[in-house]
Amino acid sequence: MQQVKISGWGRPDDALDVARVRGDFPVLDETVHGKPLIYLDNAATAHKPRAVIQRLVQYYETENSNIHRGVHRLSEIATLAYEGTRAAVRGLLNAAEEREIVFVRGTTEAINLVARSYGGAHLQAGDEVVISAMEHHSNIVPWQLICQEKGATLRVIPVDDRGDIVMEAYHRLLGPRTRMVALPHVSNALGTVNPVKAMIADAHRAGAPVLIDGAQGAPHAGVDVQDLDCDFYAFSSHKLYGPTGVGVLYGKAGLLEEMPPYQGGGDMILTVSFEETEYNVLPYKFEAGTPNIAGVIGLGAAVEYLAGLGLEAVAAHEDRVLAYAVERLTRVPDVRLVGTPEHRASLVSFVLGDIHAHDIGTILDQEGIAVRTGHHCAMPVMERFGVPATVRASFACYNTEAEVDVLAEGLEKARRLFAGV
Ligand code: ALA
Repeated sequence: MQQVKISGWGRPDDALDVARVRGDFPVLDETVHGKPLIYLDNAATAHKPRAVIQRLVQYYETENSNIHRGVHRLSEIATLAYEGTRAAVRGLLNAAEEREIVFVRGTTEAINLVARSYGGAHLQAGDEVVISAMEHHSNIVPWQLICQEKGATLRVIPVDDRGDIVMEAYHRLLGPRTRMVALPHVSNALGTVNPVKAMIADAHRAGAPVLIDGAQGAPHAGVDVQDLDCDFYAFSSHKLYGPTGVGVLYGKAGLLEEMPPYQGGGDMILTVSFEETEYNVLPYKFEAGTPNIAGVIGLGAAVEYLAGLGLEAVAAHEDRVLAYAVERLTRVPDVRLVGTPEHRASLVSFVLGDIHAHDIGTILDQEGIAVRTGHHCAMPVMERFGVPATVRASFACYNTEAEVDVLAEGLEKARRLFAGV
């Protein structure tokens, strides 16, 4: 059996009052097919605590207004709240400056922004962009698009049978042609926690900047962008208990300063004439048009909520539930884990005999259990492991070992159903 090594992001002595936490999430009172909801699809999107939901209601009921534009009171309140989230996110990531925090639609848009703006300005024919074989499609396709346009080449670091990046291969791929390295903090399909700090240092020695796709990292770990020394870090609000449609791009100020705008429109300009446009300062240069004001304010409430729970306490709790899940699921006959990485966080992917993942998902749904089934927007990972799809159980601060037991029982039921025993 695999020795389960959890991420180690949390200190084991940090206690989370899970019963109280569960009381903060109204959806957990729901039943599905007459059974209590067991929500294990947090890597797709996490649920929202009442504090976030109420913050959205408060904004729409009493503060709704456009930001950075009006001299009237409501606009001032909305602007302060919107910029308050920027300060909170700066703190969450330990970024050096608030202007390094750019609000976007989500991780996907953040990566597209960097690929198009930084890649568009810097990539030339013959250059190389290095990614890994465990990427989500959103850290593949934007690079593919810009590489095709510029005549650059996408180089892919292989992943070993456990689901860890092959470091020797990474070091061999880095070279004078490397113009960008883009890596996931945590794999959404395997749960692998990558040693990004060391990998960033390696890339910097080769002269390449690094973007970290933190969609599955930021919700589960304390992220210190200055300690990591990453050049860009992207994450989505909705996986961090905030609203959908909002995400964050962190970028080092020096890089963001010299990058051209990604989109043109209102708020990203200082002056416009038909001859010439002078762009706004950071971060507004990258926030064209009316942003998702309510969403950003809701993200601020989510960051505040998470900080109130304590990031280390959340991580320690999730690590404990995850370790239990790995151990418990491997005791279900015919379960095969897809990905047994050295360090794991937040999720476990598996197959059950030769039963299709979607069939298992449907049976689990009848038990009130929500998991994701399919390729998880990471088709190359599925190909690497020779499976069309997996079942993925992913955890958040409100999940419990008891829910893992119900999942295991649901899998045993699915196995019996398909075996006809
Ligand atoms: N990227 C999300 C996931 O992994 C949607 O499920």
